[in-house]
Amino acid sequence: MPLLKIIEPTPKSKILIWHVTENLDELETISLTDRSQERVSKMKNQMARKAFLSVRHLLKIAGYKDEDVTYNENGKPFLSDGKNISISHSFEYAVVAINNEDSIGVDIEKKRDKIVRIAKKFIGVEKSFVDLEKDIEKLTRIWGAKESLFKIHPEGAIQFDTHLMISPFEMTDKQTKGRLHKNDFDETYDVFFEEFDGFCLVYVLNID
Ligand SMILES: CC(C)(COP(=O)(O)OP(=O)(O)OC[C@H]1O[C@@H](n2cnc3c(N)ncnc32)[C@H](O)[C@@H]1OP(=O)(O)O)[C@@H](O)C(=O)NCCC(=O)NCCS
Repeated sequence: MPLLKIIEPTPKSKILIWHVTENLDELETISLTDRSQERVSKMKNQMARKAFLSVRHLLKIAGYKDEDVTYNENGKPFLSDGKNISISHSFEYAVVAINNEDSIGVDIEKKRDKIVRIAKKFIGVEKSFVDLEKDIEKLTRIWGAKESLFKIHPEGAIQFDTHLMISPFEMTDKQTKGRLHKNDFDETYDVFFEEFDGFCLVYVLNID
């Protein structure tokens, strides 16, 4: 089944996960706007095409058409009905997160050793509870949490090491807190982790 699962963190939010197992022909059965068609046709990487189309299949399951999604100049997606949306894809997984009233951010990452190479760029206060040289699993979670928080901010231009702060957690924990503090924008969110098939899924929202 390509729709792997739907998580409902709150009654007004859902995370839809697609496992891309189909060939391109099967995924291309979804209807696209001219703009999306043009975007897909420019993608040289077949996996990127599949991910884009899988996201449209997830949107359909959530009750939306491709034309219901628009992007601002920074690449942040918006839904025509005003609900909040966040999108992520990595290799053979695609994820759409929707929150009816509040912000939501999502990120899916394949766990890879090379995260240690960029750790210094995105780790700030978190160095108190993570080893930058060998803690691949924790670093992947923190990176995913920061990418998710980044996707919430309306304007971008976020410094990952200083504007984004993830509270300490153990790998046995399923959640923690994340703070996005840049100028007047200062919000703290609940951060959730799920691991499967060598991937780390992170989503952030307020659950109360
Ligand atoms: C935009 C960014 C978050 C995308 O992350 P990624 O891991 O490359 O890719 P993902 O698959 O998780 O996310 C891609 C989706 O994010 C969404 N997105 C892109 N820009 C966005 C933005 N400014 N705000 C919110 N969402 C955004 C889009 O929906 C995109 O998918 P789509 O265009 O197919 O719809 C990332 O490339 C980025 O720019 N990060 C910030 C800068 C940075 O990396 N700093 C590093 C500090 S060490």
